[in-house]
Amino acid sequence: MIPLDNYRTTFLNYLSENVKTKEPQNLYEPISYILSLGGKRLRPILTLMSCELFNTPHKEAMNAALAVELFHNFSLIHDDIMDNAPLRRGKETVHEKWDINTGILSGDAMLILAYQLFESYEASTFQQLAKLFSKTAIEVCEGQQYDVDFEERDSVSTEEYLHMINFKTAVLVGAAMQMGAIIAGASAYCQNAIYEFGRNLGIAFQIQDDYLDVFGDPKSFGKQVGGDIISNKKTYLYLTAMNDAAVSDKEELEHLYSIQPKNAADKIEAVKQIFISSGAQEKTKLKIKHYTEVAISLLDNLDVSKSEKKQLTDFANQLIYRTV
Ligand code: IPE
Ligand code: IPE
Ligand code: MG
Ligand code: MG
Ligand code: MG
Repeated sequence: MIPLDNYRTTFLNYLSENVKTKEPQNLYEPISYILSLGGKRLRPILTLMSCELFNTPHKEAMNAALAVELFHNFSLIHDDIMDNAPLRRGKETVHEKWDINTGILSGDAMLILAYQLFESYEASTFQQLAKLFSKTAIEVCEGQQYDVDFEERDSVSTEEYLHMINFKTAVLVGAAMQMGAIIAGASAYCQNAIYEFGRNLGIAFQIQDDYLDVFGDPKSFGKQVGGDIISNKKTYLYLTAMNDAAVSDKEELEHLYSIQPKNAADKIEAVKQIFISSGAQEKTKLKIKHYTEVAISLLDNLDVSKSEKKQLTDFANQLIYRTV
């Protein structure tokens, strides 16, 4: 086990050594661009940690970690097109800086580059990694489709929402961890336990992403605050407010989610106030805590040292206090 920051540094070094711009520039430059904008590197760090957790040097998991981060960034380029997002990590999104076609093709190339990285593993490991990756990638597509479909739907249940975020976000966090376990040759039981830890952490992570989209500080958040409100996203905040708000506020919220004003500032502010007054803001915070606690409690199923458990627990708890 190594200190948390070292995983990040080692990963960033590996990333810069292995992602280079070449011809045609318009294909590779956006790839270097998005990867150089920063980001928390949550998923690759989890892959490396998981490999060490099962007693194997994290260096062996480096290509899988890079694959996971490439896939994640590919999904962000396409997600920003789908969400019509102007900002990513405090900078212009790829389709804003270049154009939509560039975003589509550079994203496609990243997905393929991610698959290619698994070729460095021996046959049996390769097969397990590719199988998990394919299953996860198709689930992410399903989750993304639900997310977009829900924008147009009047009523979405909390169960449907949880199913949607499980697929669009949580399964990749679970898979990132399971990949580390596969490379370490961990048992199917251990692979599943660490996958479930990651998946529950991923659910907490997406609910918090929704929370920050409304309540984040525009100076540090790096994305357009209120973007989900502009797109009428059925987030946990929205669904909870629709359940709990007073009748007049419910009607107001429904109305606000049916209009597309040119200047969205008033709509964002009005929705935000209902999220606060209905108690949805507080309930959402509790839900984030709940899924983080579920994730942490799942670590009890694993026979790992106290200090290793603590590192994962600290990591999970730190995510609750993130501002980005
Ligand atoms: C953003 O992911 C997309 C979601 C699944 C919420 P991150 O919040 O991990 O983005 P970066 O990589 O740190 O920028
Ligand atoms: C993104 O969800 C999930 C994927 C990229 C697959 P969001 O649309 O909420 O992510 P952000 O907020 O743009 O990062
Ligand atoms: Mg988005
Ligand atoms: Mg989206
Ligand atoms: Mg979001």
